[in-house]
Amino acid sequence: MILGTQFGDEAKGKITDFLASDAQYVVRTGGGPNAGHTIHLPEGVVVLHQLACGVLRHGVVGVSGPGMVLQLERLEEELQELSDRHLLKGEVMLSERAHVILPIHEIEDAWEDDLRGRESPGHQLGTTRRGIGPAYADRYARFGIRMADLIRPALLAERLDVLYSTKSHLTGLPTKTALCETLTGIGSRLSPYIRATEPILWEALARGETILLEGAQSALLDIDFGTYPFVTSHHPTSAGALLGSGLPPQEVGDVIGVTKAYATRVGVGPFPTEVSGEVAAYLQREGGERGATTGRMRRCGWLDLVLLRYATRLNGFTSLALTKVDVLGGLEQIPVCVEYRTPAGETLKDYPPAVADELEKVTPVYRNQEAWPPFTSRLKEKIRREGHHALPAQLRSFAAFLEREVSVPVAYISYGSAREETLSVGRVGPARPASRIHKWGG
Ligand code: IMO
Ligand code: MG
Repeated sequence: MILGTQFGDEAKGKITDFLASDAQYVVRTGGGPNAGHTIHLPEGVVVLHQLACGVLRHGVVGVSGPGMVLQLERLEEELQELSDRHLLKGEVMLSERAHVILPIHEIEDAWEDDLRGRESPGHQLGTTRRGIGPAYADRYARFGIRMADLIRPALLAERLDVLYSTKSHLTGLPTKTALCETLTGIGSRLSPYIRATEPILWEALARGETILLEGAQSALLDIDFGTYPFVTSHHPTSAGALLGSGLPPQEVGDVIGVTKAYATRVGVGPFPTEVSGEVAAYLQREGGERGATTGRMRRCGWLDLVLLRYATRLNGFTSLALTKVDVLGGLEQIPVCVEYRTPAGETLKDYPPAVADELEKVTPVYRNQEAWPPFTSRLKEKIRREGHHALPAQLRSFAAFLEREVSVPVAYISYGSAREETLSVGRVGPARPASRIHKWGG
């Protein structure tokens, strides 16, 4: 499992793509076109929204899994773009159990978020307006349309009748007949990809093959464990990855938490370590922190170990992937939040308040870490030749500090956007984390 530890955009796609060279399947287990997974290939930059990054590699199957909600016009565009650019090298599979995001859901998403804003400005979420929340709401209310329905026109028409009967408060919807025709057309074009994916994955496991579960969104955006209500509508945590793929827990080897060396957040919601002014501008500029899905500037801040410890306990991370370390190269110091002080004078180390407004009011306590020199092309070349021994001593100490603070080994370090700029710095596997930490000698 490759999962986000923060508020999204930790470079989960990059780490998954790196590990996919040794995998046979990559499965997206939740979310939909709200995700933007950017991968820098030798052929150019690709942003995947609804396809698993396995589709970019020969011999790998990219599965859009049962836990997802799929917007089909956008999905067809994504397939078309990859195919036009000759980047569709792996196989594509779409779960028959994934739900469909309809135009209704996108209209509702915008309508609902505007409504929240009108009722109380502080309660607008700033969703991606991709229809995610309403599609999951219909899924759980059992009004949803599934991929399996698309290739069963009579069933689809009946399901649409039921769904439309719940939407009389909305205007501007396509007629049922028009929508049914559109969906049937898409269904027949996508039918070669629509599959019962769980048995395929179970059989792959029985053959000893490797499956990666590519998380989208992140722990702090989890519908239950995130900063509710400023969250997405599914479970980006390890439990959700099981539900979203149909795999059983005893098959899980490594649970990799991906964390940036700093933090970002898109949309509204508490962000205790957020910075502003010149520092924010620096991180936005150097880190290219603009949303890959909506183009919004990402809010930036420092690494927050309270949230990382919380995400670790929730997900059971067996290792961490530390990304975008190059962005901090050349700073004077790197502040890292090690605990919170609450207005009542309490200290919080690994469990943030459940109420967003209370998380908003904590004061982060920082411990400054020594920064490393800039990642010049010369340094990168040296790392390519010599591996992780060539990483700057300050970065090795930073990784050791994280390992001590979170009690999980740092197994990967990503130091640039290119595919090859990721280092594997430790053994990966189901061994107890404690036996593998403190390998930096820091
Ligand atoms: P990846 O996979 C960052 C945020 C939105 C909004 C909130 C709810 O690239 O990490 P939604 O449209 O899901 O109902 O919006 O969640 N959000 C993300 N932020 N990365 C993502 O995905 C996100 N997906 C949703 O900005 O605040
Ligand atoms: Mg993203």
